[in-house]
Amino acid sequence: MDKTIGPSVVIHINRLIKNYDQIKKKLSRSNLMIVVKANAYGHGGIACANALEKHGCKSFAVFSISEGIQLRDAGITSDILIFSKFNNSYLELAIKHNLILNISNIKDLIDLKEFSKKNKKSPRFHMKFDTGMTRLGLNIDEADEAFKILSKNNELKYEGLYSHFATADEGDLSFAYKQVEKFKDILNKAELFGLQFKTIHFSNSGAVLNIDQKDFNLIRVGMLIYGAYPSNEVPKDIDLQPVMEFKAPIVEVRRVDKGTQISYGGVYKTEKESNIGVVQCGFADGIPRPWYKNGFVGYKGKNYKIAGRICMDQFMVNFEDDVPSQGDEVLIFGSNDYNSISMETIAEEIESTPYVIATGINGRTEFFYQN
Ligand SMILES: Cc1ncc(COP(=O)(O)O)c(C=O)c1O
Repeated sequence: MDKTIGPSVVIHINRLIKNYDQIKKKLSRSNLMIVVKANAYGHGGIACANALEKHGCKSFAVFSISEGIQLRDAGITSDILIFSKFNNSYLELAIKHNLILNISNIKDLIDLKEFSKKNKKSPRFHMKFDTGMTRLGLNIDEADEAFKILSKNNELKYEGLYSHFATADEGDLSFAYKQVEKFKDILNKAELFGLQFKTIHFSNSGAVLNIDQKDFNLIRVGMLIYGAYPSNEVPKDIDLQPVMEFKAPIVEVRRVDKGTQISYGGVYKTEKESNIGVVQCGFADGIPRPWYKNGFVGYKGKNYKIAGRICMDQFMVNFEDDVPSQGDEVLIFGSNDYNSISMETIAEEIESTPYVIATGINGRTEFFYQN
């Protein structure tokens, strides 16, 4: 297919690896669990996991069991934790594909125990406690019952104990510290039951930047590895590079008069005679529609304003008196030799997050992987 026909993404694998090394350097630790759920936040789950595994990463997390099976089928041999809510149908699959299940509820633990007793085999699993996210996780007052089950059933292959931060990427960390205190109570209880969890983990990207990691021996990292900060309230003290470069071709250029109305609704009018380029990429491909209000694209070292509402398949750009070449590509976000536009900039402007923007790239976008 002609590369200039539609939007494309370049995934800079070399930057992914550099980010991994920078995060390890910041933490002075190497025990990272890299979160490659949702197709590695839109970056390509198999390609990212493969590159990171080759570079020494030994632990991954995905959301669904099918994402885990896909990674196994692609030859990933590292640990793979499944974040999804447990389901009885996962038991055999987890054993078959050596996947680690998430146990976040007493009933799930009892089901797993009964399966293990009956079949004389247990899947590997981590126990998740809710300390304030109010999503998945055992309640703290269920810890005694859960730990009793673990201590009395030697066949159970429990490996990890974990929780999840709700506010670790915010300026006010008081709630996050309360979560840590609750988690420590759970760890103390586990000790009273004589349980030895191989991995203790809590952190996400926000916590990597904001919270001391001394109580945890595994650190879950998602967004930072892809080269974006989780929010604008964190210290930006890691030298990160954006892994995803999103671009699209200019397919038409026309000179228009001052006062020409552009795109649906006619909400944009040129302030002077201008060169208007049509870019072949729309909201169906992942460029966020609300970005049109104050948004811009990069071309040959300069930024140019998006002109009018983004359509499903195309949008227009005001190049003013510059004359872009038909077939050239504009940078939508990421960075190349000439321009740099961060997902964080777009996210802030449209009241979204880099998570939403990265995972939104889809539709007809072609992916290229660059080492
Ligand atoms: C349970 C869990 N752990 C870790 C992460 C990674 O978070 P982040 O991308 O902020 O590092 C996520 C992502 O949403 C998650 O759901």
